[in-house]
Amino acid sequence: MPLHAARALWDPRPGWLNTASYGLPPRTAVAELHRVIGQWQRGDTDWTAWDAATGRARDAFARLVAAPAADIAVGATVSQALSALAAALPADAEVLAPEEEFTSNLFPWAVGARLRTVPLDRLADAVTARTRVVAFSLVQSADGRRAPIADVLTAARDHDALTVTDASQACGWLPVQATRFDVLTCAAYKWLMAPRGATYTYLSPRARDHMRPIAANWYAGSDPGGSYYGPPLRLAPDARAFDLSPAWFSQVGAAVTLQLLGRIGVAAVHEHDTALSARFHAGLGLAPTGGAIATATAGPAALRRLAEAGVRAAVRAGRIRVSFHLYTTEDDVDRAVAALTGHS
Ligand SMILES: Cc1ncc(COP(=O)(O)O)c(C=O)c1O
Repeated sequence: MPLHAARALWDPRPGWLNTASYGLPPRTAVAELHRVIGQWQRGDTDWTAWDAATGRARDAFARLVAAPAADIAVGATVSQALSALAAALPADAEVLAPEEEFTSNLFPWAVGARLRTVPLDRLADAVTARTRVVAFSLVQSADGRRAPIADVLTAARDHDALTVTDASQACGWLPVQATRFDVLTCAAYKWLMAPRGATYTYLSPRARDHMRPIAANWYAGSDPGGSYYGPPLRLAPDARAFDLSPAWFSQVGAAVTLQLLGRIGVAAVHEHDTALSARFHAGLGLAPTGGAIATATAGPAALRRLAEAGVRAAVRAGRIRVSFHLYTTEDDVDRAVAALTGHS
């Protein structure tokens, strides 16, 4: 589906520049959610009809990140997904991460192991023989910086460390190949535009060998329908062993948006989002970064002008953070630039 046609499915109020906080759903996802919530309200169906969305979403996510669906676990949040590895590490295992990292990819390691942090640009050089896991975001939440992936992967391979990446600020606009990493996790409520409550995690067979299914449950059973009652433990032989029983309505929304993204293609989204980002930077007299998240300094007057112009953005690490996705328009960008420069 061409991107320009797909864009007609969104109805944002002008000025939404905050997909890095949460993405907006297309009308098709909202309609599907209304439909199933009506079923819920009336008791029209059992839950298996809603659960079928989980399988569609898992498959669509697998295609999006070019990984086998059998290696994708379904969960609720990034921190929950990572805890199954963090909790299984020896208490003295070193986990190396950027110090700027979003804490859902820091706190689980700090609880389960020995966390060491360094600035993002020193991550690859800081891997040593003691490092068991290198954990980092593909795209930083606070400022959109991208990880030096090739260098980090090489350093991790040289020291036999597992690589764990949080792609929550990447999947959906940046082409991503999950199998380059041991673990790739992604919260779906940002660039994948799903309701909160769905997270998809690529777990390589190697990573699974190091993990503990600390939230083992009936849904992770080799036959979920035959796992309601009684022992023995009988978990799925693949990544499903790490599934959480799904938040149905989040999965219903995610199935629609992930399938739609697959039809549009991430390459087209990438082109659109980065062109808007380049327009933003050009408006401020700055060089383009090639990312879909941008930051700028903004004093109280600029913040007031942004609010008056109807721009909804975030303030992170003392700077204004704007983010551009497939429903963002040039007018959205120009409003922000005019407010930040004081030229209307
Ligand atoms: C990089 C990144 N990872 C994860 C999350 C959300 O984490 P969780 O799913 O644990 O709430 C965010 C939210 O802003 C984020 O920016």
